[in-house]
Amino acid sequence: MDNILEIKNLNVGFNIEDNFYYALNNINLSFEKGKIHAIAGESGCGKSVFINTILKLLPKNGVVKSGEIIFNNKNLLQLQDKDYRKYRGKKISLIPQDPFMSLNPLYTIENQLLEVINSKEQIISALEEVRIKNIDTVLKSYPHELSGGMKQRVIIAMSLCSNSELILADEPTTALDVSVSNSILNLLVDLKNKGKTIILITHDLSIVSNYCDTTTIMYLGDIIEKADTKTVFQKPLHPYTVALLKALPTKERKKLENIKGQISPITQIIKGCKFHPRCNCVMDKCRIEKPELKDCYNDFVSCWLY
Ligand SMILES: Nc1ncnc2c1ncn2[C@@H]1O[C@H](COP(=O)(O)OP(=O)(O)OP(=O)(O)O)[C@@H](O)[C@H]1O
Ligand code: SF4
Ligand SMILES: [Mg+2]
Repeated sequence: MDNILEIKNLNVGFNIEDNFYYALNNINLSFEKGKIHAIAGESGCGKSVFINTILKLLPKNGVVKSGEIIFNNKNLLQLQDKDYRKYRGKKISLIPQDPFMSLNPLYTIENQLLEVINSKEQIISALEEVRIKNIDTVLKSYPHELSGGMKQRVIIAMSLCSNSELILADEPTTALDVSVSNSILNLLVDLKNKGKTIILITHDLSIVSNYCDTTTIMYLGDIIEKADTKTVFQKPLHPYTVALLKALPTKERKKLENIKGQISPITQIIKGCKFHPRCNCVMDKCRIEKPELKDCYNDFVSCWLY
């Protein structure tokens, strides 16, 4: 298997007042080239911290305590900031939730595209590829004059033209309505078909099942289940994954079940399995000892039931 990115024993956290709290615990993940990989979980489980660690964009109080981020055989965590700049936006790009953040409000779209793309010809062909029709008008526009979906298309056009092999998309369609969202997700599939690798962060499991090849489920900074998407959706193992899927509307399922309780803040330390206060299958052992991620029927899961 040809992996573009390997995360090894990654531990990341935040200094909050006089204490340190972990937001990512011992993450081990490999990402195969040319696939769309989903990372899913409720709000606050550490999805953005994970993406921002890869991009070296953690807030000031964020600290990488240990681990390796191996991109094409290089450990990104060992690079100086000036060397890392050769990667961000060039070999690894971000499609953010709010595209406005990635565009400079003071420049026209054409001037911003000229910074990453040399020729006008290439710009036009990239915009055609992301199915922008009124190209002349879009090029003359400032970001605030474009709709959210249009801005997202411009950002995807930038990643198309850069040499980025890895694209990190952090909830790229959350701010968009369903039909625009689907067309943006289809553009991500086009990028994959061009050989790019995409890590798609989402809390929407219907997006995961429709667009992603592999699924990783996170809970409070831990990976609790990971496998190929079919396996996870046909036979979820972890009670949290099972609960997330029961909250998903399907043709057969009219009544949706909510997961009881709420995800706790990272400042609250939970002994044993972190999901135990919310789990319907909790056993005595779960309150005391934390289960490790284990290989189980082509799936990886961390739960004492397996
Ligand atoms: N700068 C910070 N200081 C302290 N805690 C932080 C900081 N940034 C994030 N956190 C905490 O780290 C945890 C993970 O946050 P993260 O933003 O990665 O969640 P998420 O999974 O992306 O959620 P969402 O779906 O809402 O975007 C949360 O508990 C959050 O409060
Ligand atoms: S380890 Fe126990 S509490 Fe945690 S998910 Fe499994 S059964 Fe539930
Ligand atoms: Mg987030």
